[in-house]
Amino acid sequence: MNILITGGAGFIGSAVIRHIIANTSHNVLNIDKLTYAGNLESLVDISDSSRYHFSLNNICNKSAMEKVFHDFEPDIVMHLAAESHVDRSITGSADFIETNIIGTYTLLEVARQYYTNLSDIKKAIFRFHHISTDEVYGDLEEGSDNLFVESTAYAPSSPYSASKASSDHLVRAWYRTYGLPIVITNCSNNYGPYHFPEKLIPLTILNALKGKPLPIYGNGLQVRDWLYVEDHARALFLVATEAEIGETYNIGGHNELKNIDVVKGICNLLEELVPNKPNGIGNYVDLITYVKDRPGHDLRYAIDASKIQKELGWTPNEIFETGLRKTVQWYLDNQDWVENVETGEYKNWIQKQYQNN
Ligand code: NAD
Ligand code: DAU
Repeated sequence: MNILITGGAGFIGSAVIRHIIANTSHNVLNIDKLTYAGNLESLVDISDSSRYHFSLNNICNKSAMEKVFHDFEPDIVMHLAAESHVDRSITGSADFIETNIIGTYTLLEVARQYYTNLSDIKKAIFRFHHISTDEVYGDLEEGSDNLFVESTAYAPSSPYSASKASSDHLVRAWYRTYGLPIVITNCSNNYGPYHFPEKLIPLTILNALKGKPLPIYGNGLQVRDWLYVEDHARALFLVATEAEIGETYNIGGHNELKNIDVVKGICNLLEELVPNKPNGIGNYVDLITYVKDRPGHDLRYAIDASKIQKELGWTPNEIFETGLRKTVQWYLDNQDWVENVETGEYKNWIQKQYQNN
């Protein structure tokens, strides 16, 4: 099959592409604008595969998307491109509205036109898989046993989660009104290799290694349900290829942890793996610094993933302890990726190549 992936140079999209190229014989076209969060360096392991193709493009550009659909003839679209960082959405929401809402709308319209003109055989295969977040459900009370299920009412808190909720509603409307074959997944916090170092786990690892403060928002008792990114990538491929049309699946790792415990866990691993610290540092935990809370900060996320387990047989392979150890070790072993991502040198070079052609 031809699988069109948007946002494939990002954290989760690159894991999905690595998974598909390594484990299937499908062709992949990666459409990515290469924002600060998109890095082709995350795909070096598979980029010489003849089944992998890249197109530097903005999903909001309708005519460019029409050309992409016309030329590549996708059987499946996996839509991951988004602005993904909650803190950035609070300081500037415009890009979130543009990419997450208008971008999704643009793709839906292009996919609808494309689908209408497909043969019946191709129509039976085609799916538009929208990748979304558990943040659309708002938050759960601290200390309760409640879980997000697929029928939990939407109650987004941040500009980011409101933009993702909007896009989910658009995708469902295009199914109900126009019959576009869609599936939606809502997943909890991912962690693992190639995670952009603005998010809690990579930021903590890299700040600790430099002897910089480890910022904890508010009291640090907020709970997130962590899932190793490769388990998410496997789940997404299963949903894209095997799920029932029109369905929604929650995906999560049953790893509910308080932020402060995640940060302390990283500090403990670093004590073992990197006992030689930057000058003047006693223990890594001494770097923990409580800072002003995130406005509108969600207290607790926790996913009931029983539907995807029952219907598609998916369960996570990684428990948090092993996944976190692998992640810390990956950052220790891949300092050049971090440097590239932080300086953007490689990305600037790629963008110039495209401009010159
Ligand atoms: P990311 O920020 O790492 O990557 C996003 C990618 O989209 C980048 O490569 C970026 O260049 C690209 N992009 C942004 N705007 C674009 C545009 N207008 N046109 C084309 N490409 C564009 O994000 P991620 O963490 O990999 O998340 C991927 C998807 O999964 C998002 O839709 C996000 O909402 C969802 N999600 C993320 C998590 C998580 O924990 N990271 C959890 C659940 C759901
Ligand atoms: O739940 C899924 C969501 O998880 C995804 O939809 C988002 O795209 C993804 O970014 C992530 O959102 P969070 O806001 O939960 O992730 P972040 O890593 O920014 O923060 C995790 C928790 O840690 C959150 O409660 C805020 C807190 N935090 C974060 C940072 C960056 C800190 O305490 N200090 C920090 O410096």
